[in-house]
Amino acid sequence: MIRPILKYGAPELQTQSTSIDRVDEEIRTLAQDMLETMYAAPGIGLAAPQVGVNLRLIVLDISGGEETGHQLILTNPEVTEQEGTQEAEEGCLSVPGFTALVERPSRIHVTGQDLEGNPQEIDAEGLLARAFCHEIDHLDGMLYLNRLSVLKRDLIKRKIRKLIRAGEW
Ligand code: NI
Repeated sequence: MIRPILKYGAPELQTQSTSIDRVDEEIRTLAQDMLETMYAAPGIGLAAPQVGVNLRLIVLDISGGEETGHQLILTNPEVTEQEGTQEAEEGCLSVPGFTALVERPSRIHVTGQDLEGNPQEIDAEGLLARAFCHEIDHLDGMLYLNRLSVLKRDLIKRKIRKLIRAGEW
């Protein structure tokens, strides 16, 4: 089931999410819904807070569903090592219509669990590293906007406030 994606301004997007101790039917359904919602958007990643659930769950597919073998579902993801920096244009399904240059580590090591509770260890670079960092930020109540200079952030926030006033957000 496709769920509505919350936009900038929703309190769930600014909330620290809770770890998942046990994966039950509700969380399985949530993960499936998140995949459907991400592919339909379309997007390459989605975090549970974006559909209003403050649990540490993310889904990723940097191919956007174009190729098999890229789909990732991870609970309690954590960046345990990082190296280098990369800068690229980044957007977010919760901030539709905007993008900005964001600096991220170029290589990371991520730990977490799959839906069976098995520990996962993933080395990621390039776009996948960027997507992981972006989605994990969501679990900590952060948007990529928080990583921009005050000047750039305020410019986007001003435009969003205008859209909100016009009833277009
Ligand atoms: Ni996002």
